[in-house]
Amino acid sequence: MSLTIQATGGACGAVVTGIDLRQTLSEDLVAELRARWVEHKVLIFPEQHLSDHDLERFTLYFGGFGEDPFFAPIKGHEHIAAIQRKADERTSIFAEIFHTDWSFLRVPPAGTVLYGLTIPPHGGDTLFADQVAAYERLPDALRDKADELTAIHSAEFGYAPDGAYGQDDQEAGRSMQILASEKARETCQHPFVRTHRETGDKALYSSPAYIQSFAGLSKAESQALLMEFYAHQTQTDLVYAHKWAPDMLVMWDNRSLLHAATGGYDGYDRLLHRTTIADTAF
Ligand code: SIN
Repeated sequence: MSLTIQATGGACGAVVTGIDLRQTLSEDLVAELRARWVEHKVLIFPEQHLSDHDLERFTLYFGGFGEDPFFAPIKGHEHIAAIQRKADERTSIFAEIFHTDWSFLRVPPAGTVLYGLTIPPHGGDTLFADQVAAYERLPDALRDKADELTAIHSAEFGYAPDGAYGQDDQEAGRSMQILASEKARETCQHPFVRTHRETGDKALYSSPAYIQSFAGLSKAESQALLMEFYAHQTQTDLVYAHKWAPDMLVMWDNRSLLHAATGGYDGYDRLLHRTTIADTAF
């Protein structure tokens, strides 16, 4: 079996074949995968047949387990969350706004790993938007502004008891096990332009999903700027739309991407298991 890493031809991402993730991976192979991961930002491993233990072992090649503050873990695996929607569910699609995972944490996760178990016959793509390219393509004046901005992040919009995934949503029958809490109102500040520690690339970091405002600007000024950046950050030609298949593992780099879930599969179950890869510093 020889390792092949083929760019998707889209805005980012590469497909990795010739590897069995049930096997122990050598240090050299992990180093090669890590280099290709930060280069392509998304790595896609089709036709794997992984248990939850395999998923955990694979995750730990790339760092410790990240914290998942608002997900209940699946039974017996405290670091795995189920991203799921039932065929008859009528709640909103989870995570449909472009975001990067848990950017409100002081040290957000470097990456996320998602493994497809039950995949609908159509719909349910995951979108990935390249934020290094988004930064590079900013008009000069907006790039100068972005360089100066400090963003104030919080999970309130989604995970506070009155947030999008709060009490009303749970009562509406969301099957995903979300733990909304008052803790979601805490805030944390990060520079809006993030320098990737492994590549040195600058990227726009996070989105209105978690950024509430910019330090020193009013709510109204912040909202206007956030919307202007969001339109730029999610332009179609920066986006790779990933199509899932069962037994496919995808890992992405939260430091250089935004991602978003999509719907279009009402009437079908969708189930993926997810871990996050901890970072060591922002
Ligand atoms: C996520 O943001 O982790 C979910 C992505 C998806 O369901 O496609």
